[in-house]
Amino acid sequence: MKILVIHGSPRAEGTTTQLVRAFIEGAQSLGAETNLILLREKHIAHCTNCLHCYAYEGEGVAPCSLQDDMDAVLAEIVSADGVCFASSVHCGFVTSLMTTFMDRLAWRAMRPGPPLNHCFNLETRLGDKVRALASIVTAGGIPGLLRRFCDDGTRWMKSNTPLELNGQWIGDMYAAAELERLPENDRDWKRLYTLRRLSMTQLEEARALGVRMARAIESGGLKPETMENALPALIRWAMNLCFAWKSPYTIARMK
Ligand SMILES: Cc1cc2nc3c(=O)[nH]c(=O)nc-3n(C[C@H](O)[C@H](O)[C@H](O)COP(=O)(O)O)c2cc1C
Repeated sequence: MKILVIHGSPRAEGTTTQLVRAFIEGAQSLGAETNLILLREKHIAHCTNCLHCYAYEGEGVAPCSLQDDMDAVLAEIVSADGVCFASSVHCGFVTSLMTTFMDRLAWRAMRPGPPLNHCFNLETRLGDKVRALASIVTAGGIPGLLRRFCDDGTRWMKSNTPLELNGQWIGDMYAAAELERLPENDRDWKRLYTLRRLSMTQLEEARALGVRMARAIESGGLKPETMENALPALIRWAMNLCFAWKSPYTIARMK
């Protein structure tokens, strides 16, 4: 069983790293072989939208017009049974290291499929196995109770990566500020990031997520999420009716 962690924080010994270590420890305790990819040490250029990958109709991972470390990372993803995406929160989202990587991943791992309910459809190119997927997101001053105002990144990874990697989302965690003490004055409120520490509970949660991923893979019962099974039958029936009558698309006429 191979579990891969894609680490998207620019900081070497920060909170993401500590949680990732705990996650890996959890996965290894069930015998998983683990591999950690530090995006900050890879050369992964920005996607140029040339659509070379999007147009590819062959089998397996689509080729890319850029030659850099992305090919090696993709090879690791293809052979993995589970992938955990770890990132710090930057400006309410995942880091730019993570978004640059995700841009490069999208159409190499996924392709446009046959229309679904008169709508655009997406299909994985990595249908050889079902992968377990999870995320670890770590933030500074915004506590867990207010996660929804600061963690659009988890929602985004959770809705994209299962379609891309033929996966089932098995869990995620958000580790926000656990302060050593409450800020007492203006100066401390400004130092909120630096008062921040991970708690034992957060480290245990990361470890438990690693265990959960290994167990999910071991169970052999993972089911891939597809656009089709994300929509309940009744909604699909209603969409079909609606869109057969009036298409959601307008085709621009060339002059
Ligand atoms: C550019 C930048 C933007 C940030 N934006 C947020 C934010 O929107 N919400 C938040 O709670 N923390 C924010 N933080 C704090 C980091 O999420 C926090 O320090 C986290 O622990 C960093 O993870 P690391 O230790 O792995 O680098 C931001 C940090 C940076 C550098």
